[in-house]
Amino acid sequence: MYNKPMLKDNALKGKTYVVTGGGSGLGKAMSTYFLQLGANVVISSRNFEKLQNTANELETKTGGKVLPVQCDVRHYDQVKAMLAKSVATFGKVDGLLNNAAGNFISPTERLSANAFDTVIDIVLKGSKNCTLAFGKHWIAEKQDSATVLNIVTTYAWTGSAYVVPSATAKAGVLAMTRSLAVEWAKYGIRTNAIAPGPFPTKGAWDRLLPGDLKDKFDMKKKIPLRRVGEHQELANLAAYLMSDFSAYINGEVITIDGGEWLQGAGEFNMLEAIPQEMWDMLEVMIRSKKKA
Ligand code: HXC
Ligand code: NAP
Repeated sequence: MYNKPMLKDNALKGKTYVVTGGGSGLGKAMSTYFLQLGANVVISSRNFEKLQNTANELETKTGGKVLPVQCDVRHYDQVKAMLAKSVATFGKVDGLLNNAAGNFISPTERLSANAFDTVIDIVLKGSKNCTLAFGKHWIAEKQDSATVLNIVTTYAWTGSAYVVPSATAKAGVLAMTRSLAVEWAKYGIRTNAIAPGPFPTKGAWDRLLPGDLKDKFDMKKKIPLRRVGEHQELANLAAYLMSDFSAYINGEVITIDGGEWLQGAGEFNMLEAIPQEMWDMLEVMIRSKKKA
């Protein structure tokens, strides 16, 4: 377990960040740390009551300023209104964290067209709506620097069965990340992504490991480091990527998964199951073939 804050006090002083899906789960954890480092934070999602409760809790906990704004990222007009409110309250916005998502496990052939669309719309269209609105604003305002950070996951490039709409959408978000990193660098806009492995949250676990699936499929066994991620570990990475300390990092996707996806990928990684004492015998067998 590792949960120590990483950056120095006031590292984000004077910055304002917008975190979509900031009222719960990982968005809330990252917002908390941005506030502790001195930033103002706008948290947005569909459920205003939840946002207000989180805003009150985080202001009390950190002494920072939190603006809760209701906004369904699927609707461009709502995103523009959320941006306008953020600018009206804090004067400017320095960074956008595209964290809002929708996801659930299902065999793909069981999905209605609308079910598939719903996930694509929240994840891909939502990230596009926010990125486009904020990018146009920063470019029009000739703001010196700004940053977009997208939360994807490792199946953005491996793909994954049973979460096909999410994998399809996250792959699109990753392509957008790399494309805009080049195109918008001339405007001082950096675009990066984080690909987390399993970081338990209620929102994700209720939909991805419902009932006793969480006991049947112990995520820790899939991870070389044999543990899931701590929210503070992700918050440390996000704060660094949102901050000016990462000013030369652009177009990168940083994986934070304890080695999980590579464990699934390496051809002979299953040999991990071989007990140490068997290796002497196996070596003898292999060497004897060479002589034959
Ligand atoms: C099949 C389903 C379904 C299910 C909903 N639908 N749940 N189909 N199996 N379990 C269908 C509905 O019947 C409907 O289609 C369509 O999907 C839209 O459903 P609504 O409930 O109307 O949508 P909405 O209220 O917009 O809710 C969106 C949602 C919901 C995605 C379905 O789960 C949600 O609000 N999620 C937000 C939070 C979230 O998902 N967090 C987890 C992120 S975790 P029809 O045809 O009937 O109209 C994550 C982790 C990745 O991304 C990596 C982990 C390692
Ligand atoms: P979560 O708590 O369910 O977070 C999802 C957030 O998105 C919620 O706050 C939700 O708030 C918001 N949201 C959903 N639909 C929205 C919409 N249409 N408009 C605006 N906001 C919307 O789950 P989480 O685990 O923290 O996930 C956060 C991010 O991490 C996601 O991008 C997810 O894909 C990614 N991720 C998570 C894990 C993990 O292990 N937890 C691993 C890899 C990647 P409302 O319901 O109030 O709208």
